[in-house]
Amino acid sequence: MKQVKLILDKDYVVGKIDERVYGSFIEHLGRAVYDGIYEPRHPEADEKGFRKDVLKLVKDMKVPVIRYPGGNFVSGFNWEDSVGPVNERPARMDLAWKTTETNEVGLHEFCEWTKQADSSVMYAVNLGTRGPDAARNVVEYANHEGGTFYSDMRRKNGSEEPLGIKLWCLGNEMDGPWQMCAKTADEYGRVAHEAAKMMKWVDPSIEVVVCGSSGIGMPTFGEWEYKVLSECYDDVDYVSLHMYYNNPHRNTADHLANSLDMDKFLKGVAAICDAVQAKKHSKKKVHLSLDEWNVWYHSNEQDQEIYKTKPWGRALPLLEDVYNFEDALLVGLTLITILNNADRVKIACMAQLVNVIAPIMSRKGGGAWAQATYYPMMQASTFGRGTSLKTKVVCDTMDTPHYKDVPVVEAAAVLHDDDGITIFAVNRDLKDDAELNIDLRAFGDYKTIEQTVMHHDDMNAVNTEENPDNVKPGMPKELGSGEKIVLPAASWNVIRLLK
Ligand code: AHR
Repeated sequence: MKQVKLILDKDYVVGKIDERVYGSFIEHLGRAVYDGIYEPRHPEADEKGFRKDVLKLVKDMKVPVIRYPGGNFVSGFNWEDSVGPVNERPARMDLAWKTTETNEVGLHEFCEWTKQADSSVMYAVNLGTRGPDAARNVVEYANHEGGTFYSDMRRKNGSEEPLGIKLWCLGNEMDGPWQMCAKTADEYGRVAHEAAKMMKWVDPSIEVVVCGSSGIGMPTFGEWEYKVLSECYDDVDYVSLHMYYNNPHRNTADHLANSLDMDKFLKGVAAICDAVQAKKHSKKKVHLSLDEWNVWYHSNEQDQEIYKTKPWGRALPLLEDVYNFEDALLVGLTLITILNNADRVKIACMAQLVNVIAPIMSRKGGGAWAQATYYPMMQASTFGRGTSLKTKVVCDTMDTPHYKDVPVVEAAAVLHDDDGITIFAVNRDLKDDAELNIDLRAFGDYKTIEQTVMHHDDMNAVNTEENPDNVKPGMPKELGSGEKIVLPAASWNVIRLLK
């Protein structure tokens, strides 16, 4: 058995964890909204048409913020289409996903649904086909009390009280050639600056996220962030980062090492923010919004087939990745990486929430179930609130076909307000178990240790509607004093220490 030492000390902290790192994302894409959260003819539908079984899975995952309505979709979206009487709303061609958007679910309905989900909205404005004018108008519509054109329009549309949206995205992936009205960094920097300025004039209490480049692999990466932030640093609060893991070599060891790229990405963008801060002699810190992250590759071929047969359909079954156990481990590793960067990552949205590259799946007219990736997310959100501690993990490293010096074990530790500690740990070794020795330094003794393990012998195991409990954590087990903490080969672990 491998030996691993984890050193924690009361005085060494990364930072307070912003609960919004357990965020998610719902785009008007595929069956996320229509035949996902909303299916009026389903036996589980409430009086508004939203599925209660899907909502329960969302609530159980404890998602504090949900990005909406896109994604690529938002760059061609007119927010005005999504308000007012439903039967008068236009159906539009969504050029991003070659789908017909009926606007049956819009701003009011979504805000109402997020309330029921114990969540809040992170609303993206269209800086593709639209611009700062539409952006400031939708802030007025959503957040101004009343007595003006757009705020009174909201009141007439049934919401006397403001919708109170506090977090806003300034467009989406504006450097991507696939984006409607993609822009150069100079073009976007100016537009984002003016939009942010006016949106905050309408409601000074809001926070805004400016688009970083759409990925670390983009030729624009780095220079984009630097130029855009140089233009609008003082008017924005966060810069966005997006990262999707592929598994190009279909190699488990490589797949699990992918979270090292995430760490590099987060630290790299934080360094660019700080470089702009230094250049501007600014006292302000811009932080990170990792507002799209996940594994995404399983559905690629299927999606090509769908487009061949059903272009411009409604609620096409797009991006329906079926996640396996190794994906769940990588999700766990990503959450650990986010927590270990909690001083800079203030928002993170697992993309997406229902049916579209999602931890929750539903069948039209049928059941709803949790994918393997649901569980690390749910456990991290449940037990990962408090202060992120600096972790010193002393363990072997290994080489995978495409990564060098990969630590066998990764861990994050959270100190809760009641002095309890939760450790999240993944053993990447596919063969050997590891014994975890925790050195608590100034914390002193903790009495009770409880461990929950998620492991499956088959890395390709998945959950389905028929077999929804195939991949999930076991029951929590209390460890007696002196009992070893064993991280089984290929496992995600939640270890809770109580005083
Ligand atoms: O989440 C799916 C898509 O991925 C989003 O619409 C886009 O922002 C990203 O490229």
